[in-house]
Amino acid sequence: MQKVGFIFDLDGVIVDTAKYHYLAWKKLANELGFEFTKEQNELFKGVSRKRCLEILLDIGNVTATQKEFDTWMIDKNVDYLAYIENMDASEILPDVPRVLAYLKERNIPIALGSASKNALPILEKVKLLHYFDSIVDGNNVTKAKPDPEVFLIAAANLNQNPKDCVVFEDAVAGIQAANSAGMISIGIGDAKVLAEAKFNFNDFTEMDSNFIDGLLRK
Ligand code: BG6
Ligand code: MG
Repeated sequence: MQKVGFIFDLDGVIVDTAKYHYLAWKKLANELGFEFTKEQNELFKGVSRKRCLEILLDIGNVTATQKEFDTWMIDKNVDYLAYIENMDASEILPDVPRVLAYLKERNIPIALGSASKNALPILEKVKLLHYFDSIVDGNNVTKAKPDPEVFLIAAANLNQNPKDCVVFEDAVAGIQAANSAGMISIGIGDAKVLAEAKFNFNDFTEMDSNFIDGLLRK
């Protein structure tokens, strides 16, 4: 049987780190003299750190020199790293280990496809790194989601054709990236927001082994 490669986004799919990204961006916004709301933070999902800062500065109507821009990127990440420093397995989203273990038991190739440059330390902290045959993250790509680059690299690393890959994503940009890579996109989160996904689940607790078996038989 032709194997199917499984590619997982990190933030919002494996761990609930969006809240820490939010707190770090909010701190910077407040230091620069404006508010940054949870609703605005939705725009940041799946978006690279650089692009997030550009959007944040637009929201606050702040213009920055290149030096300030670079400094604020670093400041935000220092704060984010402090938030995630003590992360542990309790912050893994529900039933993620069950799905990873189910795939691993069947020797299914698994990759991470994330925009984050902090993916590796997070997977180490929550003790899920051993499930992944390949890690593709913000350090390996030149084009951000919705460009399919991150998922195409992951498929190549798993020796899979893109059409034989499944992507789990919580961000609109990520679903679009998976679709333009020709992969099967699965939205994790609000189906109305992720309407472009081929399949939708609120979280992995809703995904039973029959559904996964169906993907494996595709
Ligand atoms: C994505 C998050 O996974 O990674 C974004 O959804 C974040 O919110 C992006 O901006 C980059 O993350 P990092 O850890 O490199 O700043
Ligand atoms: Mg995400």
